[in-house]
Amino acid sequence: MTKPLIAMPIVDLDAIAQQLGESGKRVHVLWQESESLAFVARGREYRSEFHINPSDEVMYMIRGSMNLHYRDTDGTEKIAVIPEGECIFTPTGVAHSPRFAPDAYVLVTERLRRPGEKDRFQWFCMECDNFLHEESVHVADYRTDPVAGAYQSFFDNEEARTCDKCGTVAPTY
Ligand SMILES: [Fe+2]
Repeated sequence: MTKPLIAMPIVDLDAIAQQLGESGKRVHVLWQESESLAFVARGREYRSEFHINPSDEVMYMIRGSMNLHYRDTDGTEKIAVIPEGECIFTPTGVAHSPRFAPDAYVLVTERLRRPGEKDRFQWFCMECDNFLHEESVHVADYRTDPVAGAYQSFFDNEEARTCDKCGTVAPTY
């Protein structure tokens, strides 16, 4: 069989989800080429932050459902529930927090980041909703798991986790 000259991967999403669960990893990048980034991810028990992408995002639930917390234009927190087999469009700049179980799986497609673009991760106080902290990173390679990196920085910084309004300290889990 001749090797195709153009890379056009066809992926079995259920098989990727199965492999991801068995590997213990959180993210499997399918491709990150030209304008397109696609990956399959498992839920994280500790996910509490809001992510702000410099790109539109589509999330399709392969297995299980997701509660997508997000901040509306007036700043209020809302929850969009995405059942298995359904997908949601999240426009550029909407602060969103994908909360789903470690045995639930999502396909995410975004635009590959351009040079200098930053992804922002924001935490709010779980008691009084006061803004706590922001981590900002350029994501050159999604295989590095930028979400885990942002959490590590936040967990390692007790001052950042302490609410200056009510004194509550965000836990490190
Ligand atoms: Fe607080």
